Amino acid sequence: MITTQLIERITSYFTKNFKDEPISIFSPGRINLIGEHTDYNDGFVFPAAIDKGIVAVIQKSKTSTCSVHALDLEETIEFSLDNIIPIEDGGWKNYVLGIVSELHKSGKKIDNFNLVFGGNIPDGAGLSSSAALENSIVFALNELFELELSKEEMIFISQQAEHSFVGVKCGIMDQFTSMFGQKGKALMLDCRNLKAIPVDIDFKEYGILLINTNVKHSLANSAYNNRRQVCEKIVELLEVKSLRDATETMLQEIRGQISEDEYQMALYVIQENCRVQRALHAIQSENIDTLGKLMLASHKGLSEQYNVSCEELDYLVDEAINDSNTIGARMMGGGFGGCVIQLIKKKVIDTYSNYIQTAYKTRFKIDCNIYTVELSEGTHKIY
Ligand code: GLA
Repeated sequence: MITTQLIERITSYFTKNFKDEPISIFSPGRINLIGEHTDYNDGFVFPAAIDKGIVAVIQKSKTSTCSVHALDLEETIEFSLDNIIPIEDGGWKNYVLGIVSELHKSGKKIDNFNLVFGGNIPDGAGLSSSAALENSIVFALNELFELELSKEEMIFISQQAEHSFVGVKCGIMDQFTSMFGQKGKALMLDCRNLKAIPVDIDFKEYGILLINTNVKHSLANSAYNNRRQVCEKIVELLEVKSLRDATETMLQEIRGQISEDEYQMALYVIQENCRVQRALHAIQSENIDTLGKLMLASHKGLSEQYNVSCEELDYLVDEAINDSNTIGARMMGGGFGGCVIQLIKKKVIDTYSNYIQTAYKTRFKIDCNIYTVELSEGTHKIY
């Protein structure tokens, strides 16, 4: 939950340091029921915004520089608008600078500003704290300087900032979901035309449990970009616009021209796109068992074909499979760490959580964290 306390903590830091009343924005993180690594293939995804996110407060600056403060990290960056370049290993700072740079490129004029942000999305959990941060910044600047950007224009600025300043060639799922999320609903999104079908999420006796592996294996970014390149190579060979347009039969025809790994990766994407569409049907017809099976198949594909899982994620999914009260589980997000999403009977969530925390600690000598989330509204002004 984004609590009043969190908003107050951030606002009072701002007023104390800048002696001004700020505008304040909330931008959520996201979960994804199914549809991983399909977004940059013009495919389907099934995410939802959550009640964990970033609060950013902003006001014009009376000085000749901009100042952005990350309250949770107690770190500040000050910069001048006429010299915006990425910082090596700059972490969160590059998201901020990237947004400012992309706004410049799009011809939008902003002046100096002060911004303070903080939140409750665990970093590296695969809940897309980065998209929440990007969207909170672009939304805040849009409000403050009356830039009249549409939400759709803003999410492309966020995505572009990540491409050019952070170096991750991400798709549009995270930014879209964080911006357009709807309370109590997941969005079955067609990433080709950005048309979303909002679907009420009520799995009756089943709840959504998130388990954070608390690991983020290095090379995740380069592995992500590498997967994207493989997809692009196959698209060229198939002479289609994107893998969204490919079928298993078409892929079979070029099998001799690609490596087995590449074949499996493309096959995964084609199959995952079908799974998302089947998941929509399963949810609409209240067939949660089928949804659970599709999630398990998605994980298997991510782990064995797309090769973006890791030991910790596979362990949590294996444990979920062995639990008779669970009907589905899979890794979520880019991979190599972050969270597992699990559909489990609500009445056993506490018992299972206790069990898995102990088992995980015994196995990996580190803690895993458990979260339950509410599906929430997208990026918006608080006041
Ligand atoms: C990350 C990216 C998204 C998407 C997922 C994998 O979260 O930011 O665009 O590609 O990985 O589904």
